[in-house]
Amino acid sequence: MKKSLLVLLTGALLFNFATSYADDLEVKRTLNGASILEKMSPQPEIKKWHDTEPQPRNYPEQPPIIPHSTKGYVINQKSNKCLTCHSSEDSKTSGATPVGKSHYKDRDGSPTSKISARRYFCVQCHVSQVDAKPFMENDFKGEE
Ligand code: HEC
Ligand code: HEC
Repeated sequence: MKKSLLVLLTGALLFNFATSYADDLEVKRTLNGASILEKMSPQPEIKKWHDTEPQPRNYPEQPPIIPHSTKGYVINQKSNKCLTCHSSEDSKTSGATPVGKSHYKDRDGSPTSKISARRYFCVQCHVSQVDAKPFMENDFKGEE
């Protein structure tokens, strides 16, 4: 008996909270006098990828920037488009730089026959080169 009373009370409280929350939202919209959509900031410009030669690296451990478009290149559980050109086997015919040797090592440094799971999702570390100016001036110099 006591239990059902408790359930009833909690239910009533939650309902009360939900409705007053919805009321709050309503009020904010009307006070603004405009729909939220009209106040959206302009969409940032989409940067175009830049097809270049492979770019110099700033330090040895930097994942090199991708010097070509990757539009439509799918990487999922079943397939990895990047590997069809970049795997150590396929790079022999595709002319693409083979992935680093580090990409065929597990976390203990032992060699793996297939690409290491840690290196499967290429775009986690490699990004396409775009023509984007830095937001702030800076005097960073890479290693020679
Ligand atoms: C159709 C073949 C092909 C596919 C698919 C491909 N690449 Fe490439 N990639 C190349 C070639 C060829 C180069 C050599 C430079 C060039 O000609 O643009 C290259 C260069 C690179 C480099 C620069 C290497 C360096 O030494 O600086 C990186 C990084 C790279 N690709 C990453 C990727 C990633 C990540 C993907 C998937 C999202 C991918 N590539 C898919 C062919 C391919
Ligand atoms: C966890 C980060 C990481 C992931 C994921 C990753 N890479 Fe790399 N990659 C690096 C780093 C760091 C380097 C440079 C040092 C080295 O070779 O290990 C590199 C180097 C490379 C190079 C240049 C190799 C050379 O000898 O100059 C290519 C090409 C490349 N990666 C492609 C790929 C592709 C394709 C994938 C996906 C199958 C991938 N990478 C996944 C970090 C990563």
